[in-house]
Amino acid sequence: MLKPGQVIEVQIDRLAGGGDGVGRLKDGKVVFVPFSAPGDTVSIEITESKKSFYRAKILKILTPGASRREPICPVFGKCGGCTWQHINYSTQIQEKQNIVQYALRKFDIENFNPTQPNSDEFHYRNRIQVVRKNAQTHFRKRNSHELVEFKECYIAEPKINDILNSDDLPQEGDFEIGISRDDKPYIRPRGTHDPNSRFSQVNTKQNKVLLERVRTWVQKMNFSKSALELFAGNGNFTQVLAEFFNKVIAVEISRPSVESLKKLNHENIEAVCADVSTYQPQSKQIDLLFLDPPRTGVSRSFFDSTFHSLQFQYFIYVSCDPMTLSRDLEQFVKKGQHIYEVQTVDMFPQTDHVETLVLGGMSPRIT
Ligand SMILES: C[S@@+](CC[C@H](N)C(=O)[O-])C[C@H]1O[C@@H](n2cnc3c(N)ncnc32)[C@H](O)[C@@H]1O
Repeated sequence: MLKPGQVIEVQIDRLAGGGDGVGRLKDGKVVFVPFSAPGDTVSIEITESKKSFYRAKILKILTPGASRREPICPVFGKCGGCTWQHINYSTQIQEKQNIVQYALRKFDIENFNPTQPNSDEFHYRNRIQVVRKNAQTHFRKRNSHELVEFKECYIAEPKINDILNSDDLPQEGDFEIGISRDDKPYIRPRGTHDPNSRFSQVNTKQNKVLLERVRTWVQKMNFSKSALELFAGNGNFTQVLAEFFNKVIAVEISRPSVESLKKLNHENIEAVCADVSTYQPQSKQIDLLFLDPPRTGVSRSFFDSTFHSLQFQYFIYVSCDPMTLSRDLEQFVKKGQHIYEVQTVDMFPQTDHVETLVLGGMSPRIT
């Protein structure tokens, strides 16, 4: 067993969820190496030694893998945002596909579609959070108070960088800079607790791809009376569901988001402010169960209670974490549901994050 501080060479075979490169050492254990690329041969120093794996940092790249490239951002690896800028985009897409396929390997999936890339691998984020100090702009490192000064963010929309280079920014403070849904730039102070905070997708263009995929699936369904949507947010998917279902019950915990849902003004949408973990729908028979939970997935208490009594023909699960998706899909399969189709979408180029949509159901396959 290797100890922290020991130096060794390894070849990186693939990338793992979480973003690290993975190699296998002679003792059979895998080692996770941040900022490595598939095909790299690297000299590494062990930083953590566990029963079944190691963690290590790169000391030297001995032979770069074919997918390795020079990152364009001068603060790459320092700011805590991007993890994969040093890997070409086609490999990023392939590795995302592999990560999700690996996470879902135990399921019988009829159709696993290729990952849908982003049209532009840079300049896609519609908001960033910055710290202004001494009239300079900084990112906060992930899980740290340390600041990293920067001039341009290569994954932010161009209009955000225009703001960064303007005189509009206050000299001191924490801010969110973004482009609103109606395409207006904004600078907002960030409080430690914002009672009006609500979820919205960070990649406006690619969100349309998600909506289109859902629309394609839903319009082929044989049943269209009722949909129960859990984790509805501000109604991003609710509006699409309302095009096809006579009634959509949209459940969301955040009060400001429920207010937005109510403003959608569709007669067939019923917005419910509730915690999914304890929510009990009036009708247990629905045509579609639609879920888009946060990274942590759906709570155990939902599966142990409400889920048992629900009867649905189809489900669509939108996930931003393949591991919690895999855990939750087991519950669907145990209930006798089939997995028809999986679609991965790259909403976050230059990072290891991947969005996955799953279509399943009880009824015969719809194609
Ligand atoms: C990933 S977001 C999806 C939002 C929406 N579907 C969208 O595309 O914009 C998850 C949403 O679930 C909500 N949420 C988190 N935990 C919840 C819970 N226990 N019960 C109900 N809603 C919850 C959050 O407030 C957030 O709006």
